[in-house]
Amino acid sequence: MDRFITPNLMEEDRQEMSIRPSRMADYIGQAKTKEKLTIFMEAAKLRAESLDHVLLYGPPGLGKTTLSCIIANEMNVDIKVTSGPAIERPGDLAAILTSMKPNDVLFIDEIHRLSRHVEEVLYPAMEDFAIDIVIGKGPGARSVRLDLPKFTLIGATTRAGQLTSPLRDRFGVICKLELYDSEDLAEIIKRSASVLAIEIDDAAAVEMAMRSRGTPRIVNRLLKRVRDYAQVRGEGVITLAIAKSALDLLEVDALGLDAVDRRIIDHMITNFDGGPVGLETLAAATGEEATTIEDVYEPYLMQIGFINRTPRGRVVTNRARQHLGYQLILESEQLSLSIEDL
Ligand SMILES: Nc1ncnc2c1ncn2[C@@H]1O[C@H](COP(=O)(O)OP(=O)(O)O)[C@@H](O)[C@H]1O
Ligand SMILES: [Mg+2]
Repeated sequence: MDRFITPNLMEEDRQEMSIRPSRMADYIGQAKTKEKLTIFMEAAKLRAESLDHVLLYGPPGLGKTTLSCIIANEMNVDIKVTSGPAIERPGDLAAILTSMKPNDVLFIDEIHRLSRHVEEVLYPAMEDFAIDIVIGKGPGARSVRLDLPKFTLIGATTRAGQLTSPLRDRFGVICKLELYDSEDLAEIIKRSASVLAIEIDDAAAVEMAMRSRGTPRIVNRLLKRVRDYAQVRGEGVITLAIAKSALDLLEVDALGLDAVDRRIIDHMITNFDGGPVGLETLAAATGEEATTIEDVYEPYLMQIGFINRTPRGRVVTNRARQHLGYQLILESEQLSLSIEDL
């Protein structure tokens, strides 16, 4: 059992534990999601019921795991943490489910990667709070229905589109996490800095926020590296000048693009004339996984208007050309591109 589930957080999570908010009040941004969840949690508590099943989706590092732990915390219940690929057999899931206490939270990360057999056990568990267990083998085998305590399933995924519709339909609350704006990120970085007991100037916080591609995990990671720099090269305080030099050293540019982002755009311009280029072709050319490009790199490049998606593939915009110092293409050429794509 310990192999795939722990009542605590997983190793990767544990490293982030110290700066991870544990109360809704400390969870910054995502106003709509927070308001929805707060109301539903309040109502469930008033009725002394379990919270309805919650699906959280959005790019990596936006706070899905964090929010799930906060929900359990605010509901005053225990959380069991596992993930889609970790639950190999239906029996594994049955073992987890039968060990839950009333109203507990089961958090399944990467829920789109559950196997079909496991998923089928989840349907009656989510809907009727019961599982069907087959006892015996061959002609004498019979199915016994086992009641479970009411629980809350929280599923997290970077790819809601890959969820089967029967699974998706069983979630009462579906929340999409959005990329954060730089004000929220600056607030997150200041909070993290105070937890890590490092002093940071407002201007430095804003600068780092703008270079964090809308993602709390990145802002926190940058904070740790910039802290190192401030302690070794500076006076231990993160000033704007320190932040800028550290970020330049880390090759994180003014818009937060790193070497991989730039390589993707470079390839699109030099090898594919700016596109349209298909995802798989781009993946092969850059040596990145197609799913990584789609989940990690593309959302931000699209948000800042560097890449457009067309029916025939991805296209680089003039804005990206300008940022990377390439010659701009004429609007008429861009126009003919988009007309061809229709
Ligand atoms: N809304 C938020 N406010 C403050 N910190 C956050 C927020 N969302 C995420 N974080 C921080 O970002 C890190 C990554 O969040 P996480 O929940 O692991 O993302 P995900 O599960 O979506 O990949 C966490 O360590 C947490 O400290
Ligand atoms: Mg996570």
